[in-house]
Amino acid sequence: MSENIITHVVVPGTFDPVTLGHMDVIRRTRRLFPRVTVAVAASVNKHGRGTTFSLEERVEMIREAIVCEGLPQDIEVAPFTGLLVNFAKELGAGGVVKGLRAMTDFEYELQQADLNSHLSPDLESVFVMSNPQYGYVSSSIVREIASMGSDVSTLVPANVERRLLERYPR
Ligand code: PNS
Repeated sequence: MSENIITHVVVPGTFDPVTLGHMDVIRRTRRLFPRVTVAVAASVNKHGRGTTFSLEERVEMIREAIVCEGLPQDIEVAPFTGLLVNFAKELGAGGVVKGLRAMTDFEYELQQADLNSHLSPDLESVFVMSNPQYGYVSSSIVREIASMGSDVSTLVPANVERRLLERYPR
């Protein structure tokens, strides 16, 4: 077991697209750790379907949102394919940070954390509780509302809202 203090963590996700809930978790993770890499998973989401936005678009939207929302500019954003534990190892990151909204998140996240711990015992899983303001916000809900032509301006950063309007014109 490594005794090293963790200074670099990854915040992984599909981010299809990034929401204000994600941005809140990323901002708070940067208050806890000096180096943060947002790790954007390549192709499939947790339901096994392809994504609405390409990997490049999802990475770009997070980079824009970091500027747009005034987060520390040293937060890195990188795409990855394959196993998260391998990507974290490549970066030399010692932990994975995720946001938890409700009990339904907990069951899924516990399973992923257990699996990651089995694959890479030194990699710590850390959870931050979502801001209750964003408890109901998810990428899939955002996509659904936007695709029906409704306003998502309180759920996503302004740059993401613009992209959703391009994707789903009213
Ligand atoms: O935003 P999401 O869908 O909750 O993020 C899930 C993600 C991307 C973190 C997870 O699916 C993942 O780590 N994928 C990479 C493949 C992997 O490592 N799988 C084993 C752990 S479940």
